[in-house]
Amino acid sequence: MPRLLQIAQLGHPVLRETAGEVPDVLASDIQELIDDMLVTTSDVDGVGLAAPQVYHPKRIIIVASRPNARYPHAPLMEPTAMLNPVILSSSLENESDWEGCLSIPGIRGLVSRAKSLVLRYQTRTCAVIEERFEGFVARIVMHEVDHLNGLTFLERVGSSRDLVTEREFFRRIPKRESV
Ligand code: NI
Repeated sequence: MPRLLQIAQLGHPVLRETAGEVPDVLASDIQELIDDMLVTTSDVDGVGLAAPQVYHPKRIIIVASRPNARYPHAPLMEPTAMLNPVILSSSLENESDWEGCLSIPGIRGLVSRAKSLVLRYQTRTCAVIEERFEGFVARIVMHEVDHLNGLTFLERVGSSRDLVTEREFFRRIPKRESV
């Protein structure tokens, strides 16, 4: 049975480590970790999760965009585990949108990122995929890959003035039709 995992909070050193490659995607401990990450993402209303956030500094991310209480306008997709992801290219054109992070509760920040990217990753069945993502899903991918490199969205906001509390975010930002 998959278990719910604790989420490391900002300040824990695991969030600042560079995560290691996963040499054997099919190993039972990796498959269990993926199952645990999938149920944890769903339980906490996340749209993405990186293994370092659950205290495993390994290059595994879950991308699981769907509309939920935290992101009411997110597009719906099948929750997907991506192992050893590499961003092969990203668009020159950027766009700014609001991000939050399960490891930084209560805060949202306005972050400028590429509008689209091409990602190479391994699936949990060890297939190698090259896939193009755009918009909000591309944003999730970049946010989660940042976690694998010890970065959070706080390092990506242009100015500390682009940080807001979640309470003010839900009061004000939806009126501007963001995220
Ligand atoms: Ni995050």
